[in-house]
Amino acid sequence: MPSPFLWGVASAALQVEGALTEDGRTPSIWDAFHLRPGAVRDGHGPEVACDHYHRWAEDVELLGRLGVTAYRFSVSWPRVVPHGRGPANKHGLAFYDRLADALLERGIEPVPTLFHWDLPVELDEAGGWSSRDTAEAFAAYAAVTADALGDRVRRWITLNEPVVHTAYGHAFGIHAPGRTLDVPGVLKVAHHQLLAHGLAARELRSRGLEVLLTNNYSPVSPKGDGDAAAAEAYDALHNRLFTDPVLTGGYPDLSAFGARGVPGVRDGDLDLIAGSVDGLGVNYYNPTLVAAPAEGAGLPFDLAEITGVPTTAFGWPVVPEGLERLIDLLGERYGAELPPLYVTENGCSQTDAVTPDGRVPDPERIAYLRDHIAAVDRARERGADVRGYFVWTLTDNFEWAEGYHQRFGLVHVDHATQRRLPKDSFDWYRDLIAERR
Ligand code: FCB
Repeated sequence: MPSPFLWGVASAALQVEGALTEDGRTPSIWDAFHLRPGAVRDGHGPEVACDHYHRWAEDVELLGRLGVTAYRFSVSWPRVVPHGRGPANKHGLAFYDRLADALLERGIEPVPTLFHWDLPVELDEAGGWSSRDTAEAFAAYAAVTADALGDRVRRWITLNEPVVHTAYGHAFGIHAPGRTLDVPGVLKVAHHQLLAHGLAARELRSRGLEVLLTNNYSPVSPKGDGDAAAAEAYDALHNRLFTDPVLTGGYPDLSAFGARGVPGVRDGDLDLIAGSVDGLGVNYYNPTLVAAPAEGAGLPFDLAEITGVPTTAFGWPVVPEGLERLIDLLGERYGAELPPLYVTENGCSQTDAVTPDGRVPDPERIAYLRDHIAAVDRARERGADVRGYFVWTLTDNFEWAEGYHQRFGLVHVDHATQRRLPKDSFDWYRDLIAERR
């Protein structure tokens, strides 16, 4: 019997846990990066975040009230394997062990992500994703984590959005580790993440576990007649770079970026990476409109503004049909090679405020979720194999370079007191799940 559709929410360790120096955790690249002047808006930092490391029981209570059937969280590598390699930290593992048990007690499937951007700083100092050793270290960390939780946790996500970690962190320098590498350097970083995924997938599968890889996807359109090549170049980077190797065994054509092959690929790497997933995690926020670049621009595309649609507090265009189009496109592109899909993130930040009577009305978020879920429904009705939908996110949290400025939660968090207050969208999603599960 096929397992039932997962209704969930998603979060990430660095964005919610806090407790950066507790119980043997060592620093991650975000612990270091946020200290750079100007790196994070208003100098905000992840030191406390949602204090989830201490308030996890309250958060699991909230998940129980919400009625989700799955919870996607990330495991903090520097908490579980301090310094990035070497022996596991039993206190770190114990935290996720308790979390998994508490979720299971409420009938909620734990769906961990092994890497959501918080690389141990010591690995970064030794070369980070520019070094092949980081991929090997990741596989060892995946193995100890799977040994601890694999008796209760079936579906595992290796990496979250390697395209964003690569582009923002290693090309544009606006996320940790804040590098601006050249094209070959960036592609090497990409390859080592895929290799890490492949090596970790082998560890997970040898333990009988299911492997997912989550990426950020965005359907791309050319702005005008002359913009098709630019749109294709952008599509190769955003949608294909981390998916073609996994589903087709080869890298997409990246010649528009001046790349002659992908550096760092050794014999056997692509065989390891090919066919290494049992499901594909799809994070969708918005489509992308692309124009040809100006003369002499460094990139083969220019991002154009999508007009005539509502935008979120982040300024992201709201286009629910984009999710349907994306699911169709993945099906057309990969055909029989496409594994089951899971929408592992979807949601929006809004300027939510608490009313004097203690409510948080967020009608825009309710409309956003309703319309995106309807888009998934339409794709499924036409035969797409989508097996889950996860709202980003449970609690307002540390939104990377935006600090605490973007509120994506179904639950409002007063960042001064840590008080959690479910928004109207929480009740709306609870009712939807109750009706549909
Ligand atoms: C995604 C990230 C997630 C969160 C949302 C808003 O790109 O995976 O951590 O920041 O965006």
